Amino acid sequence: MTPPIEGFSKLSKEEKIDWIAARYTDNSEETKKILKRYWNQDTRLQQLHDEFIENTISNYYLPLGIAPNFLINGKVYAMPMAIEESSVVAAASKAAKFWLERGGFKATVLGTEKIGQVHFIYQGDAQKLGDFIAAVKPTLLSDAAGITGKMERRGGGVTSISLRDRREVMDHYFQLHCTFETIDAMGANFINSCLEQFASTLQREAQGYAAFSPEEKDIEVVMSILSNYVPDCLVRAEVQCPVEALNEEKDMEPMEFAEKMVRAVAIAKAEPFRAVTHNKGIMNGVDAVVLATGNDFRAVEAGAHSFAAKEGQYSSLTHARIANGVFHFWIEIPLALGTVGGLTRLHPMVQLSLDILQNPSARELMQIVAVAGLAQNFAALRSLVTTGIQQGHMKMHLLNIVNQLEVSQEEKLALLNEFKDRPVSHRAVEAALERLRPPR
Ligand code: MEV
Repeated sequence: MTPPIEGFSKLSKEEKIDWIAARYTDNSEETKKILKRYWNQDTRLQQLHDEFIENTISNYYLPLGIAPNFLINGKVYAMPMAIEESSVVAAASKAAKFWLERGGFKATVLGTEKIGQVHFIYQGDAQKLGDFIAAVKPTLLSDAAGITGKMERRGGGVTSISLRDRREVMDHYFQLHCTFETIDAMGANFINSCLEQFASTLQREAQGYAAFSPEEKDIEVVMSILSNYVPDCLVRAEVQCPVEALNEEKDMEPMEFAEKMVRAVAIAKAEPFRAVTHNKGIMNGVDAVVLATGNDFRAVEAGAHSFAAKEGQYSSLTHARIANGVFHFWIEIPLALGTVGGLTRLHPMVQLSLDILQNPSARELMQIVAVAGLAQNFAALRSLVTTGIQQGHMKMHLLNIVNQLEVSQEEKLALLNEFKDRPVSHRAVEAALERLRPPR
């Protein structure tokens, strides 16, 4: 068994690599070679990446792709997407082009409220606690003025502080439930700093509150943290067209296609096993743009899935209907995003992605990302209800299969050519390669 190590973080980068290569890999020279091959030649750029996180030993690349032709609210965007899965960018591009020719996407921000909570234990009279919170609110805000000043000058800040009695879930459990407007910042650091200040003011002021008994003065703060469940930081993206304009399917009439799409969404609404995969496909598009623009995709994932379960059963994030001969398809998704702060001005590729999107505000980015999710879902459902997903997916995956087989450039071109019009599978590609190679 490899013994644990003390003080790993204090080792130099080279020492960390030596240690991990020697202790955890079979071929330590090869490990070191791979890790160093992925270092950037520009040492300042490499140092920037090293310092994003802790104990950095190398970089981990994801491809950055572009899905062009997204017409959103009258403006044409090229969508930067960072993702490892083949066919996602192609699907997005295809959906973008499809809707470009049918009026484009419309997107609307429905709300931008962020949420954070101070969770605390108070053993005493709830009425007295309510009076205390009402009395202490101005002090909560004034104590936090050093944190909130800059955000307020930009038009944001703390928008509400309320007391929530949660004793039905745990003895003596209360919350300060706080809402925030963070403008173009995702706002996690701002919110958490405010909440920690509120918690300390709360405890200090309780000690001096004359109406409290000694036990009531001892408010125990359990934790102060933002919530990634942001049902009112919400955006809607939609497309619509006359059913007869859905006329691109080879073997399906427009009305049959429209009805199948509506049914596919209805299944995802009613059936959690399907809903999870349906929403996963949406998140293929959402995460790729969220990641390219330096946002926190784990926060977005957590928020989106909790929103999908808000009625008590996990369900579809998209909706579809046919009304008066018009096909409507839309998504409502909570998205807490930023275009300032965090990595946005630090990571050169993030800056570039935001530039490509013409430096959107956070609200605009919410709209763009929601559209990426809707487009991805449209493309997935379109394949699923017509040809099936594998045909297109395996075509896109062909390059990955070929690359795994260690072929020459000449063999690669021959294989790509051969599978232009043939169903792709790993076995079929292997067999074709064998046929290409002269017998030994
Ligand atoms: C694959 O990454 C995503 C899909 O499974 C989504 C879906 O089934 O809707 C194709």
